[in-house]
Amino acid sequence: MTTDSNTELDELVTNQKILICVGSGGVGKTTTSAALALRAAQRGLRSIVVTVDPARRLANALGMHKMPDRAVSVDLGEDTEGSMQALMFDAQVTFDEVVRKHAKNSKERDQILKNPFYKTASKSLSGAHEYMAMERLLMLHESGQYDLIVLDTPPSIHALDLLRAPDKLLNFLESTAGRTFIRAAKSMSGGLGLFRLSGLMARGVSRFVGSNFFGDLLSFIQNFEGMYPGFRERAGRVKRLLRSKDTGFVVVHAPEEATLREAYRFDAELKKEGMNVKGFVANKVHVSAQFDPDKAQPTLESISLEHPALALYDSKVRKRIVKKIKGLNQQLEFLAEQDALALHEISTRAKAHTPPVPVYLVPHFTQDLHDVDGLSRFACSATLG
Ligand SMILES: Nc1ncnc2c1ncn2[C@@H]1O[C@H](COP(=O)(O)OP(=O)(O)OP(=O)(O)O)[C@@H](O)[C@H]1O
Ligand SMILES: [Mg+2]
Repeated sequence: MTTDSNTELDELVTNQKILICVGSGGVGKTTTSAALALRAAQRGLRSIVVTVDPARRLANALGMHKMPDRAVSVDLGEDTEGSMQALMFDAQVTFDEVVRKHAKNSKERDQILKNPFYKTASKSLSGAHEYMAMERLLMLHESGQYDLIVLDTPPSIHALDLLRAPDKLLNFLESTAGRTFIRAAKSMSGGLGLFRLSGLMARGVSRFVGSNFFGDLLSFIQNFEGMYPGFRERAGRVKRLLRSKDTGFVVVHAPEEATLREAYRFDAELKKEGMNVKGFVANKVHVSAQFDPDKAQPTLESISLEHPALALYDSKVRKRIVKKIKGLNQQLEFLAEQDALALHEISTRAKAHTPPVPVYLVPHFTQDLHDVDGLSRFACSATLG
């Protein structure tokens, strides 16, 4: 495994306790998240990567597909000082854990967990999935088991939902609608209560689906009501954690216009929400080979003349090979120039932060990055732009 001690990402992984990778679809958020956690482990830290929607092959390589929502140790070999775990987030398992934590007693806990409405609601309640991801983050942070937690997120729009989930929950619990909902549920009994409840539902107070078992719903709400203060308190903690100095956001993008626009949007939105961007990762960048064909011409010719694989060919073919290499180099230089131009604005934005934040450039690899070695190559090749 490549484990150069000198990577530019070291500052990022050692200065924060939580890193959250955001960006548009397919830019490399999951790869970056796993590479950051790996880098932290290579620096002797205890890290965990939490993925919301891991690419199947990466999930397999890290071993996390076997146990949803349970941390599994990633095998990094004996030379690695620190440790890395990986966790594939599952909202249902986390929801159950939250219920266990907040229920007043074991009777209430069992009543909720067994309630058919809970089983449906915990899957389909609007915002529950997002909120639970934040709950999981808080649980891991408060466990004290990790020096660094890296949270991967789904593509952009959902990622913002994720970060706003604690606010949404707090707003609901504190809103008139939220209080009315709880009061109504408490005072309801019999047909009239159910009638009133269905009216509330029709007015959009809840967005439950498939809820044709109002009796279960009522008992669910009555049991759940006791847990609201706990929810409120924890949502407040998550909200503060997301804005604390321990938490940094990493905006991942590629040198392409659409993903850059998303990165600018994230930069602006996170600032507006009071969250700290700690770095940009410009991924899949074409990097100049720093190759001067005129200076290299004699070397190229001699290599092509002497290389055993080319010895079979006559001088005309060898000359064509040299020409081809020069042509490919020209193409790479062109792409590298285009990428450098495309990344100009993000560098300006990064410098405009107080204090300025780094832009890390990661080359576009031709090799597969779906294993620990690939992630290590990814981390080790990041350079400051
Ligand atoms: N620097 C790179 N060079 C080459 N391939 C890369 C690089 N970074 C990531 N990839 C590949 O690009 C694909 C998408 O990466 P990844 O799954 O990390 O993106 P994502 O942003 O998490 O996607 P999604 O939005 O779908 O969750 C993967 O196959 C990954 O191996
Ligand atoms: Mg992903």
